[in-house]
Amino acid sequence: MTLTVLLAAGDGVFEDYDAPLRAAIAKQGLDAQLVTDAPAQTVDYIVYAPSSPLQDFTPFTNCRAVLSLWAGVERIVGNATLTQPLARMVDPSLTQGMVEYVVGHVLRYHLALDKPATSWTPVVPPLAQDRCVGFLGLGELGRACAGALRALGFDVAGWSRSPRQLEGIACHSGTEGLRAVLARSDILVTLLPDTPATTNILNATTLAHLPRGARIINPGRGTAIDDAALLAALDQGQIAAATLDVFRTEPLPENHPFWHHPNVTVTPHIAAATRTETACDVIAANIARVERGQPLLHGVSRHNGY
Ligand SMILES: NC(=O)c1ccc[n+]([C@@H]2O[C@H](COP(=O)([O-])OP(=O)(O)OC[C@H]3O[C@@H](n4cnc5c(N)ncnc54)[C@H](OP(=O)(O)O)[C@@H]3O)[C@@H](O)[C@H]2O)c1
Repeated sequence: MTLTVLLAAGDGVFEDYDAPLRAAIAKQGLDAQLVTDAPAQTVDYIVYAPSSPLQDFTPFTNCRAVLSLWAGVERIVGNATLTQPLARMVDPSLTQGMVEYVVGHVLRYHLALDKPATSWTPVVPPLAQDRCVGFLGLGELGRACAGALRALGFDVAGWSRSPRQLEGIACHSGTEGLRAVLARSDILVTLLPDTPATTNILNATTLAHLPRGARIINPGRGTAIDDAALLAALDQGQIAAATLDVFRTEPLPENHPFWHHPNVTVTPHIAAATRTETACDVIAANIARVERGQPLLHGVSRHNGY
């Protein structure tokens, strides 16, 4: 049987994904045609990005799964017409990209790389073991970044919704757990999904729980941070610096104060991209699992919103 896979991902994506996705599906021993348009009832799988005009999933009555090209699914998870199983993107290259981004910016703050000496006054940075990096979010990305920093010798703590046990990492959950992680984080990395429960999790109250002079790195989602509270904390010196990759409005508006703040580094949502080659393997493997009657990998919980 030839599967029909609808690529609903907006302009220009088909050209990138057409050949590698067909090859990856063939490698799984399946036969598929990749289309950008087809009668809805004939579609077996939808590969999706939020840039697609497709918003009504009701007519896709035979679709067995919707496979997101994005790791963050906040723009699709609440779609009431989407009753089909939804998988988010977990891509080894995306994870590697995030590890490099987070480790790079942590080391930049740890070693004061962007504050070169202006006089011969030696300031020796502490060793990694004396610097605590806290993670809000210990999922696929948080765990990988935390593990890499742990391997470099950092004191690593983390917070997640459900309790976790990770070797060498002080894991916390719940309200008290959040406070405990914040209280010891010299550098705080937020890798939380955008859900109602994570919105404004870093606000005036929680920012005040961080040690004075803490640094923040946010490659998760912009909604995790109350922008005005962060700007106030930066101006008061409670937060020494922030590196922000994601924002409530993207592109970040030209007149947003983050662009001009001396202690804010803006990166334009580039921390970790989905890479076509590896993403195609992940999607094809997931399609093959469903075809074999196995459960979908990286399934999204509608209840939890991620
Ligand atoms: N900037 C970029 O380029 C880029 C690229 C990819 C992804 N991202 C963002 O990174 C986010 C994380 O990705 P991921 O693959 O690591 O996601 P994930 O595997 O779903 O992990 C999410 C983590 O957040 C925790 N969490 C969720 N809601 C929470 C809450 N209310 N309180 C405490 N912890 C909570 C989860 O807890 P449990 O462990 O208990 O489930 C989990 O540890 C994505 O959602 C996306 O928004 C950004």
